Amino acid sequence: TSLSQCLNLHDIETLATSKLPHKAWAYYFSAADDLLSKSLNRTVYSRILLRPRIFVDVTKCNTSTTFLSHPVALPFYVSPAAMARLAHPSGEAGIAAACAKYGVAQIISHNASTTPEAIVAAASPTQVFGWQLYVQTNRAASEAMLARIAALPSIKFIVLTLDAPVAGKREHDERTATALSADVVVGSGSGTGAEERAARAEGGVGKALFAGTAMDLTWSATLEWLGRHTNLPIVLKGVQTHEDAVLASRYPGVKGLVLSNHGGRAMDTAPPAVHTLMEIRRYAPGVFERCEVWVDGGVGRGTDVVKALCLGARGVGVGRGVLWGLGAGGVEGVERVFEILKGEVETCMRLLGVERVEELGMRHINARAVERD
Ligand code: FNR
Repeated sequence: TSLSQCLNLHDIETLATSKLPHKAWAYYFSAADDLLSKSLNRTVYSRILLRPRIFVDVTKCNTSTTFLSHPVALPFYVSPAAMARLAHPSGEAGIAAACAKYGVAQIISHNASTTPEAIVAAASPTQVFGWQLYVQTNRAASEAMLARIAALPSIKFIVLTLDAPVAGKREHDERTATALSADVVVGSGSGTGAEERAARAEGGVGKALFAGTAMDLTWSATLEWLGRHTNLPIVLKGVQTHEDAVLASRYPGVKGLVLSNHGGRAMDTAPPAVHTLMEIRRYAPGVFERCEVWVDGGVGRGTDVVKALCLGARGVGVGRGVLWGLGAGGVEGVERVFEILKGEVETCMRLLGVERVEELGMRHINARAVERD
């Protein structure tokens, strides 16, 4: 199979699976316990129906939007995911090059296997990046990383991930422990000892990467500390209830939320982002006025992206899909993923009778089956 024969993201995953070393596959594929949240992330979209309208001129189709007022060409973005160099030597820099070609925003993982300096250098200066932070037990190391990020003008926001103070129990990853090759940078090169830990990743890559992550984070103390060390807008990732969405949206400095269960990799049977989105719509709609709400998890089709936008999401993250693209064909593989998703989003918008993404709303879907969950 070649990339051009891959017509959808399932084909891309199959191709990547056939090419990747077993360890890389196991790390990317894995999710917590019985993979129930991972699987629900996908199936929940299949239970939302679209409501196409007829007799609308759909000659034009504009997929562009803004994330925290930064223009992007497409409403989906690259979710932060660790260790892209397990998929391909170009790693996160390869993803950045593909993003630059398609105008897709990219969130760089705290545990990227390439330094943030090298990643942003692979894209044009106008590309939109975020940087994802796992606060370290060693706060000075996190402060030093935030200072490095402040020196990179392409990085427009900080994404603080909160759903994984510890790694979930990812059994596929644990079963296939292998030492990582020494040239793979771990923890963005933050020098917190993560390199050594990951090289000895006997309990799985996931567990090794989480070894230095702080477990003592709290609303005020952590957000005040972060506010002292960055001037960038803050996005909180891993919000899974409307209660936390309300608390988050009231903190000064917090400009965005990512509703996410970490691709099902943290707590199994945690809700898919779509459920949290519905909860916020029902019990706390004011959240949408106070901050941007982004979602991720299980996005494999353009229709999934459009459905999330209809429910009120501003941005839709793709995690594994991008890693599978990189594994299937390096930079070109990621480009193929974007080409497929862009095509599917455009087709879906046209068939709905919609010209611009901001027109998308509840009137374009029937989500009654999911409302009852
Ligand atoms: C992740 N994710 C993640 N999230 C994060 O905040 N920091 C990280 O370092 C990682 N690392 C990571 C590695 C791998 C291999 C995967 C698959 C995921 C979670 C990621 O940002 C996102 O929430 C999910 O991947 C979205 O689900 P899908 O698109 O993979 O189904």
